[in-house]
Amino acid sequence: MRAPARDRVGLQQVLMNLMLNGIEAMKDMGAPGKLTISSHQNGDDQLLVSVADMGIGLQPEHVEQIFSPFFTSKSQGTGMGLPICRSIIESQGGRLWATASRGPGATFQFVLPVKVTAHSVIQPAPSRT
Ligand SMILES: Nc1ncnc2c1ncn2[C@@H]1O[C@H](COP(=O)(O)OP(=O)(O)OP(=O)(O)O)[C@@H](O)[C@H]1O
Ligand SMILES: [Mg+2]
Repeated sequence: MRAPARDRVGLQQVLMNLMLNGIEAMKDMGAPGKLTISSHQNGDDQLLVSVADMGIGLQPEHVEQIFSPFFTSKSQGTGMGLPICRSIIESQGGRLWATASRGPGATFQFVLPVKVTAHSVIQPAPSRT
């Protein structure tokens, strides 16, 4: 994946959090889990990354609630993983959201602005501040 170089550590943190959540969601499923991470160039100016698991899944009514600070269903959870992920992505001009998958599991997706040059090198979009 060609990630915008601006906040590599932040993006690593986002992916790590989403992957850990996915792994935790699959822990008690009794079936072999599968975590699928993919990235696509979305049009000219967006990178779309998705992390899909086959875990317990999400109720449609929780799809937004899980991004609230301290919302957790885990005895040892802080409930801060997803709000932090969202603020990292939004600070780079992107968006992060969850969808309740068809069948088992949940999918988390984020988009980030990128700029494609004549040489097709993905570069961070100019800051909007
Ligand atoms: N992949 C997923 N599948 C199902 N539910 C999820 C998934 N990811 C997050 N959730 C739900 O969202 C809640 C909030 O997630 P978040 O990462 O913010 O905190 P946490 O995982 O509970 O705690 P921490 O990140 O500190 O370990 C989780 O407790 C869980 O209920
Ligand atoms: Mg978490």
